[in-house]
Amino acid sequence: MAGSTLGTIWKVTTWGESHGKAIGVVVDGCPAGLKLEEADIQKYLDRRRPGQSKFTTKRQEADQVEILSGVFEGMTTGTPISMVVWNIDQRSKDYGNLMEVYRPGHGDYTFDKKYGIRDYRGGGRSSGRETIARVAAGAVAACFLKSLGITVTAYTRSVGPYEAKPEHFNIEERDKNRLYMPDQETAALAEKYVEEIMGKPDSLGGVVECVIDGIPAGIGDPVFEKYDAALAKAVMSIGAVKGFEIGDGFAAARALGSQNNDGFCKGTENEVEKATNHAGGILGGISDGSQVILRAAFKPTPSIAQPQKTVTRGGEETEIVIKGRHDPIVVPRAVVVVEAMAALTTADLLLANMASRMDRIQVFYGRHGAGEDD
Ligand SMILES: Cc1cc2nc3c(=O)[nH]c(=O)nc-3n(C[C@H](O)[C@H](O)[C@H](O)COP(=O)(O)O)c2cc1C
Repeated sequence: MAGSTLGTIWKVTTWGESHGKAIGVVVDGCPAGLKLEEADIQKYLDRRRPGQSKFTTKRQEADQVEILSGVFEGMTTGTPISMVVWNIDQRSKDYGNLMEVYRPGHGDYTFDKKYGIRDYRGGGRSSGRETIARVAAGAVAACFLKSLGITVTAYTRSVGPYEAKPEHFNIEERDKNRLYMPDQETAALAEKYVEEIMGKPDSLGGVVECVIDGIPAGIGDPVFEKYDAALAKAVMSIGAVKGFEIGDGFAAARALGSQNNDGFCKGTENEVEKATNHAGGILGGISDGSQVILRAAFKPTPSIAQPQKTVTRGGEETEIVIKGRHDPIVVPRAVVVVEAMAALTTADLLLANMASRMDRIQVFYGRHGAGEDD
């Protein structure tokens, strides 16, 4: 299917359907010599896996990754890294009643209009399960970034009306609650709220925030390959994402220029620094050396266990009650997906940046040939 490949130098192609045999990804462009083993990838996949708490679907999928190529004796070889996760606990019969009807909030209608054929057992390519492939590829990118001192950390910023408080922020708390919120007190209130909504039965949305730390100034290209534009594309491509922000984002539209501009100052070692970071670490599409901060707004899970109005493929009005196992909120499992998309985008632009200046290319090749005037 067209549209399954992302990136220019660090290129990923994901494949597979939620109820097909497997989900997989090919990562092409990862440099040789990066230490990598299945455990590095599994760690990330385990954060996305369903069945971990009552807020995640009860499907018991092991989501065990196998590296098929591109790694030899624990090191990347510079050749395509192919990874597969076999689908094990798919109950396709839960989806039998969806053959002829369109689920509200899903891509059923639009896929039918576009292709005239669709895998109705779950979302096919638009399923949340496709994100397994992104997370596996993102884990490789995260290893690459870590080797350069760059970290990518996402967490739940808000769940429905409950927003993590900056004064309570503690990243250590993130993995201690079921919502992946770095504020224990707000997480407890939000968990109660999710239970209340589940009981209706209904679903809800929230916001994931992601911080990229240690990124040097100069990443991103002007015009169409701006770092913020590339991040927006990657993050908006995740299912259920309906909004994207960099830095102060939509709040910047309500600020005055004097409040929103980040004044420059001299750092302790005479380097250029910014006194504030309303811009979220990107100016003119290029990283400025401060933290890159982005947010993704997730809509409520579209599959809800209450009757909804819809139409059949034949155009008859009807009612649908969705069976199957669905999260009341996708945000906790999407945290690592946002991290993965941010890591993939950053790895690609870091590599692209290496070709941006003659002086660095000459240093890299150890050659200084004749200039134009000679
Ligand atoms: C990690 C993840 C898990 C998801 N799990 C579910 C789910 O269990 N049930 C559901 O209805 N939607 C789920 N979704 C959302 C749907 O995939 C998505 O809303 C749908 O394909 C329609 O696409 P759109 O919201 O981008 O328009 C999940 C999304 C992500 C990122």
